Amino acid sequence: MRKAIAALAVTSIALLTGVQAQTTQSVWNGIYTEDQAARGAQNYVQVCAACHGATLGGSGEAPALSGGQFIGDFDGQTVGDVFDRIRTTMPQSAPGVLSREQYADILAFLLKSNGFPAGKTELDRRSEYLKAISFESSKPAGKP
Ligand code: HEC
Repeated sequence: MRKAIAALAVTSIALLTGVQAQTTQSVWNGIYTEDQAARGAQNYVQVCAACHGATLGGSGEAPALSGGQFIGDFDGQTVGDVFDRIRTTMPQSAPGVLSREQYADILAFLLKSNGFPAGKTELDRRSEYLKAISFESSKPAGKP
């Protein structure tokens, strides 16, 4: 309980002061739901798989979207950075063609495919909220 209050306080302070760089959560905290990832998988097949492969292994110029290379490319950034990278540049043939909800669903699917745990709350569609979630390749020590 005390931990929850502390976390809430940190979140409120970050929101009140508009601190951009401060992250309050990590990608290991269960930041999307299974349902959301399932929706994202359908969108992925329709919009991304042609280039990145049905099993996310990549093909030609398009890199793999699962595994060490993908995780390493975004390690130390925020989930919002990954979201904006996808939203503003992908699909390469028509960037921004999907809604923010659809991009968030696809990102949920990518997180699931890369072994990050699902949780009870859907991934938000607003970049500023997603920028408060750090994208870390390894689970922070001492956290569940
Ligand atoms: C027309 C082919 C094409 C389609 C469709 C496409 N991509 Fe890409 N994608 C690429 C290419 C080529 C690159 C590498 C060049 C670049 O980074 O822009 C790339 C790079 C990426 C990266 C950066 C990976 C890294 O490790 O840096 C991500 C993430 C990504 N794509 C996600 C997506 C998602 C999600 C979709 C579906 C919404 C999608 N792409 C659709 C061709 C495509």
